[in-house]
Amino acid sequence: MLDTTVEYPWPKRRPEWSERVLRQLESGKLSVYDRSGVVAEFEDAWSEAHGTPYSLVTNSGTAALHSAFYGIGIGPGDEVLCPSYTFFATSASLFQLGALPVLVDARPDGSFDPEAAAALVTDRTKAVVLTHMWGLPCDMDAIVAFTRHHGLSLVEDCSHAHGATYAGRPVGTFGSAAAWSLQTQKLIAAGEGGVMTTSSREIYDRAQLLGHFNKRALQEMDPQGPLYQYAVTGLGLKYRAHPLGIAFAVGQIAELPAWIRNKQGFAEKIATLFARIDGITPLTLSTPERVSAHYALLFEVDPGRLPGGRDWLVAACNAEGIGDVDIPKATSPLHTLHLFQKPLSPVTTYDRAGIRSTFPVADRLAARTFKISVPCAPAGFEEEDARYLEGVRAVTEKIADHLTHHDGPGADARLAAATPGRGAR
Ligand SMILES: Cc1ncc(COP(=O)(O)O)c(C=O)c1O
Repeated sequence: MLDTTVEYPWPKRRPEWSERVLRQLESGKLSVYDRSGVVAEFEDAWSEAHGTPYSLVTNSGTAALHSAFYGIGIGPGDEVLCPSYTFFATSASLFQLGALPVLVDARPDGSFDPEAAAALVTDRTKAVVLTHMWGLPCDMDAIVAFTRHHGLSLVEDCSHAHGATYAGRPVGTFGSAAAWSLQTQKLIAAGEGGVMTTSSREIYDRAQLLGHFNKRALQEMDPQGPLYQYAVTGLGLKYRAHPLGIAFAVGQIAELPAWIRNKQGFAEKIATLFARIDGITPLTLSTPERVSAHYALLFEVDPGRLPGGRDWLVAACNAEGIGDVDIPKATSPLHTLHLFQKPLSPVTTYDRAGIRSTFPVADRLAARTFKISVPCAPAGFEEEDARYLEGVRAVTEKIADHLTHHDGPGADARLAAATPGRGAR
C-alpha cells in the first residue's frame, strides 16, 4: 500500500483567484443584477474564447441547459433525442418544459451515435442534445449532417469538455446553443455555476427571460422582440449566479488552452501505465481531429482477459491507494433511471415513453468501464501532478506484476486474496 492516498486535488487555488474572490466580497456586490462587473467579464472572456456573440452565466449547468432548451423553443409535446449514456442533467430539464427526452444509444467510445438516433426521429422530434462525454468531442461532422438532414436544432452539453476542440473548433459552437457546468469538479470551477452560449439573438433573449428577469432582461433583451413585455418579471425562475463563484472562475478561462495542451501528455502517460495490465483499453484518448478536455480518462476492462473484470480492478486500485479510479455511478445510463422509464413532468402528462430501443453499447459501457482524473499541470502545481502520476505508476505496476506472477515472487497476499479465480486458493 502506498503511504498516501493518490487523489488529484481539484480545483486548484491560485492566490490571484482567491484574491479576486476577496475583492468581490469587499466590494459588497454579492448580487449582480444586470450584465455588469465580474459576470460581464466572465461572459466576455467566454464569448471571446468561443468566437460566439452571446454568453449567459447561470447558477448551474442544469439552469444553462434549461435556458438553452427554452431558448431554442422547446415546449410541451416536443421530443428531443438525448444520449442514454450521460449524466441525467443533460436532458432532465426537458421535463420542466413538458418535452420528452427520447433516449439514444452510444458509440463504443461513449459519444452520441447519430445512426442510432436516425431510427428514432418522429414528426414530434425538434432537437438533439448531446454530451461530449468525459471531454472527448462527439463526431460533429456526422451529427451536424444528421440534424441538418432532419431540420433539428442542436444543443451541446459541454459540461465535461471545457476547451475541447473538434477539427480545431471549440465544442459548443456547432449547434443552436451550448451549455457548460461550472460546478466544483469541472475544468472551469466556480463551485456552483453554469454558462450558456448561442449566436442567435432570439435564443439569447428567450434564455435570459427564463432566469434573468428585471434589470438584466430589460437591459439586454431586444425591446422590439416579441417577449420584451415579460422582461420585468421573467417567467418565474431565477438563474443568476453567485458572483463569488464567478470571481473565482473568471481567471481560469485564460489558462484553458494551456491546460488542455498539458492534459494530452498526462492522458497518454496514464493510458500507457494502465496498458501494462492485460485487458484494459483506453476509450477516450484524443485523436488528431477530436481533442479531449480529459475531464476524466475512461477505460474499458475485458472480463475475458482480466478475471474479476472492472470491479476487481477498481477495488484493487482503491485498496492500493488510488482513490481517483472510480466507477461512474451518478452517470448511469438514463434508461435505467425511473424518471426516464416513467416520465413525470410538472406541466404535462405523457402518453408515450422516451425509451423505444435497446442500449447495448451504453449497457456495456456501464458494466465494463472505469474512469480516472487526468492532471492538468497549471503552473505552480507541477510537484502535485508529478506525485499523482508517480502514485498511478506504482499501483499499476504492482497490479500488473501481481497478475503476471501471482504464483511467484511478485505475489501480494491482499491482491491475491482479492483476485477471483486466481490467488484465493
Ligand atoms: C454532463 C453534465 N451535464 C450537466 C451537468 C449539470 O451541471 P450542474 O451540476 O452544474 O447543474 C453536469 C454536472 O454536474 C454534467 O456532468
